[in-house]
Amino acid sequence: MASTTGPAITGIHLPADNASVRRGQASKLVALSVMLLALLGCDRQPDSLKNAVPKRDFDPAVVERGRVLFAQHCASCHGDHAQGAPNWHRPDASGKWPPPPLNGTGHAWHHPRAALVRTIRQGTAATGGNMPAWGGRLPNDDIDAILAWIQQQWPEELYAAWWRMDRQSATGGR
Ligand code: HEC
Repeated sequence: MASTTGPAITGIHLPADNASVRRGQASKLVALSVMLLALLGCDRQPDSLKNAVPKRDFDPAVVERGRVLFAQHCASCHGDHAQGAPNWHRPDASGKWPPPPLNGTGHAWHHPRAALVRTIRQGTAATGGNMPAWGGRLPNDDIDAILAWIQQQWPEELYAAWWRMDRQSATGGR
């Protein structure tokens, strides 16, 4: 190669070529880093493996207790299968919301765990709703058992979406 191009030409061109190759590699590296940063920044979860949704391994005895408690205290309004009132998505004549489904076909899974527990404990009378307060009537572990039964009714992918949302809200969106 050197014999056809000659040392003088090589002497002029090689350093320039090398520099532009180096520049090219450098800009590829920069582009790659920007891409990586964007990927990491997007969900703000560099440790995305930790984001893996845990298996729903509720204790079957707890779920069964939740089922019985739900039938006793909640089914009269929310339905035997937590399917909600048929007209749950419209306020009734008095402007109050009918009991919604809790089985995954309503909005319950849009709420973090803390919000669900708060609604069950405090009810919605204070905000003009018809949901009774259970805080004084059911101990926390009964409410936990009912929630376990409720969440056992949700389809897998819906539980996964809820779990991620709940985790985000529990860590303040980080
Ligand atoms: C007297 C009827 C009634 C009973 C009994 C009742 N609920 Fe409700 N519940 C409602 C109504 C009505 C709403 C909607 C309230 C509102 O929007 O103001 C509601 C809302 C809820 C919500 C919020 C759902 C959402 O999508 O935001 C949860 C969770 C819930 N109930 C759980 C329970 C549990 C658990 C029990 C049993 C311990 C129970 N409810 C018993 C009437 C009832």
